Amino acid sequence: MGTKNLDIFDPDIYVGGVPHEAFRVLRAEKPVSFQAEPPDGRGFWAVTKHADIVAISKDPGTFSSWRGGTNIPDYPPDSLEVIRMLMVNMDPPQHNKFRRLASTGFTPRMIARMEEYIRRAAKEIVDEVIEQGSCDFVTKIAAELPLIVIADIMGVPKEDRHLVFDWSNRLIGFDDPEFQTSLEDAQMAAAELWGYANQLAEGRKGGDGKDLTSVLVNAVVDGEQLTEMEFDAFFLLLCVAGNETTRNLISGGMLALIENPAQRARLVADRSLLPTAVEEMLRWVTPVIHFRRTATKDVELRGQQIKENDKVVLFYSSANRDEEVFTDGMTFDVGRDPNPHIAFGIGQHSCLGLNLARLEIQVMFEELLARMPDIELAGPVRRLRSNFINGVKSFPVTFTPGKRSDA
Ligand code: HEM
Repeated sequence: MGTKNLDIFDPDIYVGGVPHEAFRVLRAEKPVSFQAEPPDGRGFWAVTKHADIVAISKDPGTFSSWRGGTNIPDYPPDSLEVIRMLMVNMDPPQHNKFRRLASTGFTPRMIARMEEYIRRAAKEIVDEVIEQGSCDFVTKIAAELPLIVIADIMGVPKEDRHLVFDWSNRLIGFDDPEFQTSLEDAQMAAAELWGYANQLAEGRKGGDGKDLTSVLVNAVVDGEQLTEMEFDAFFLLLCVAGNETTRNLISGGMLALIENPAQRARLVADRSLLPTAVEEMLRWVTPVIHFRRTATKDVELRGQQIKENDKVVLFYSSANRDEEVFTDGMTFDVGRDPNPHIAFGIGQHSCLGLNLARLEIQVMFEELLARMPDIELAGPVRRLRSNFINGVKSFPVTFTPGKRSDA
């Protein structure tokens, strides 16, 4: 296969799964390639090698998240202004300040405090379906925990949880017709969420609550505090960043186990493999396919001349199968160690929620392996039409019915 007709942009391709064969050829023959962006985008450089993505992610001075945002399409100037309030679209030194403040809510102590709650939530999720012997895995199991956790860490009362669910669904403008919300609807959802965040923050100011909202609105780092607008933007980012990603990892991880019965049997027989299995699921699924940077000056990459303001897109899905880093990278191996995947990104913007996500995944699979050890696919897997999120919309499963834990 030559590299000329390799399309890694068309969202239609991703309905059939991530185009790993195309990425393999690109890594081997043209690791940095210029890609068209139909219908009217100006095109972008696709970076497919692990080492290059690591180097670029650690050089925000040359490869900016702020200039053009972190998604492939260019934004009109007024929208660009708005998305730059999200930390993921900031550069140092502004990003450093923001990150220090936001990190106060994600310390190992804060995460450890969540464990018991996450365990209870995972039990309840399985309780809801365990007697039936069948369900849709994505909506009934994978989607629930990340939502409950975000709502809980932010201190959203239980009765308002459905609001967070609704907003996060409406906010994400996938290319999938089934999920397509109009731009107006997404803006309306953002405005509603914004208003809610404001109200929430107002009630927590000056208090000594342990929820993330209280911690963030009262945190002072180097004499600086988050402004109201910065807090609202952060709340919005969490609703988007923490939900889809973790949901698709749990769904994709379960599919990987179902499709690799020998690996699954190994894990069921030896649960101490769960930590390496979780890392392998992260590598294998890579829920976020790419993020973008914009070159701040002319620069050469693997012989290609990148011009200032060109879009440079980091394909984590490709890096996580790079033969120079992973032996038998196309094999799913629950005991893989070392496993230096970059599913959480790396460098300046590496995922703030990575320890929380790891804990959620670990706890959810402990529960699933223990109570649904014979879970099987019972129908078609419907994939998301998106070149950004490696997503699964639904897949039916069957399992031997069991008792509720509270029965
Ligand atoms: C399996 C689950 C997850 C995956 C695969 C994932 C992936 C990523 C990636 C690739 C980035 C890097 C962005 C960049 O370099 O431009 C990122 C950043 C981020 N993630 Fe996650 N994420 C996950 C879960 C979460 C959770 C649970 C939260 C919060 C509750 C979260 C919050 C964030 C935030 C706030 C950032 C921006 C960090 C910054 O700009 O400094 N993520 N994530």
